[in-house]
Amino acid sequence: MRALRISVGAAGAAVLLALAGCKATPPSSFETWFMTAAKHRVFVGDKSEKNPFPATAETIADGKEAFSHYCVACHGMDGQNTGVPFAGHISPPIPSLASPEVQRYTDGQLKWVIDYGLWPSGMPGSKGTLSDDEIWSIVVFLRHLPPAGSQGEPEMYSH
Ligand code: HEC
Repeated sequence: MRALRISVGAAGAAVLLALAGCKATPPSSFETWFMTAAKHRVFVGDKSEKNPFPATAETIADGKEAFSHYCVACHGMDGQNTGVPFAGHISPPIPSLASPEVQRYTDGQLKWVIDYGLWPSGMPGSKGTLSDDEIWSIVVFLRHLPPAGSQGEPEMYSH
């Protein structure tokens, strides 16, 4: 415990205290577990905000369209990093948006992540660039991602 507090610093220790009630078992990489847990429980807001759009084919198509302009450079056409050359080489690496860690967020939290981005990683905030409607439809698309690899690679990397 002592060594841990030193390595995560005072702010980290405060978050750790906030997480103390949680009985999750740390997986092999404590740091990854810690950051994932901290993001899900502490940092990322708007848990209860509801998505105003139903999951219709039209909404999914709208979300896919917006995603294909603003997100594919880092997340791939399928949201699963297909064809993104640096996805695994940056820190933190770009997660598959189909992964349980990402899918466990509520719709409100996904909206928040897309609005504000995640500092200090490379995930940018889109509030102001994209409308609320576009972002909510992207959230619907994220819940209905196509199979990995089925959409080809982002154009910008294939030339
Ligand atoms: C410049 C590259 C880049 C762009 C563009 C980008 N992202 Fe990300 N995204 C990242 C990185 C890096 C992470 C990992 C962040 C982390 O774990 O701290 C991430 C993480 C995420 C996550 C998961 C958050 C988590 O806590 O695991 C979601 C959801 C997401 N991005 C959605 C989007 C959407 C939707 C768009 C388009 C509006 C987008 N991203 C555009 C780089 C990018």
